Amino acid sequence: MTVENGYVQADIDPNINLVEEINRLKREKNAVIMAHYYQKGEIQDIADFIGDSLALAQKAVKVDADIILLAGVHFMGETVKVLNMDKKVLVPDLNAGCSLADSCKAEDLQAFINQHPDHTVISYVNTTAKVKALTDIVVTSSNALKVVNSFPADQKIIFGPDRNLGSYINAETGRNMLLWNGACHVHERFSLEQILALKKANPGAEIICHPECKRPIVLASDYVGSTAALLSYIDKSSADTFIVATEEGILHQMKQSFPNKTFIPAPPETETGMCGCNNCEYMKLNTLEKVYLTLKYELPEITLDSELAKQAKRPIDAMLELSK
Ligand code: 13P
Ligand code: SF4
Repeated sequence: MTVENGYVQADIDPNINLVEEINRLKREKNAVIMAHYYQKGEIQDIADFIGDSLALAQKAVKVDADIILLAGVHFMGETVKVLNMDKKVLVPDLNAGCSLADSCKAEDLQAFINQHPDHTVISYVNTTAKVKALTDIVVTSSNALKVVNSFPADQKIIFGPDRNLGSYINAETGRNMLLWNGACHVHERFSLEQILALKKANPGAEIICHPECKRPIVLASDYVGSTAALLSYIDKSSADTFIVATEEGILHQMKQSFPNKTFIPAPPETETGMCGCNNCEYMKLNTLEKVYLTLKYELPEITLDSELAKQAKRPIDAMLELSK
């Protein structure tokens, strides 16, 4: 066995049942699997807990286990580790990054803060621990409006790194936050033209999108919300068809939770049946095989300097306190 290129490389006996083996390892090692909604369906199905970024962070402070395997992307593993420095936090593939988190380097943010010393710093959870350490309070797409509204209307605020989420918050709260110029490459790809064409072909369908989408898509949508909020909205809505503008992994839960409703990913699948446009390739680096090997060898592990973890925990705790 070796850990090469960020994940465990070892032979897997072709005769084993991966799901059974993963469940056995979880019991033996007192481990839990937490998964984000953008994971492959087969990973969501073996998870002990599935959630959006806020729910994963909220769950992370309550987990009673020796090992947490976070099936998601690196910043999510880091957030879980920050909240669980006494536990082993594993991720199936260290290469599972995030284009948004990558768009904001701590040194660059520090320089920006230095130019605006009288501003409060609010960061999206899709950031590294180093960026969180420079932050006053973290938000997720679930609680961003509530957190921003908790500050006085005239408070000067730097918001990063997602300019689309930032524009959405500015529009909804009437603020004028200074926005970092970052974006998620998956959510930026959606084409308004294709979404409107789908709507024309399905006039009864509702358009629902994640606030990481560009402004014209947000404006064309019937509902805007985090992955968890989209699921709750579908439950409440009387519509039976939805055009979904977010990463396609969420469709697994949508179909499972609402088998009588129809979900159309935006943009539509291609003629070959391959939907390559709305996939987060980082999220999809995780596979059942890697989850199995990670649990078996307890590698790769997220490790963090304790002082950095302490600094990064402060704004996450502030967010969790406001989100109770
Ligand atoms: P939420 O889970 O908060 O909706 O965020 C989506 C996302 O982009 C995770 O990377
Ligand atoms: Fe990051 Fe976008 Fe992937 Fe979410 S979907 S993990 S924001 S790159």
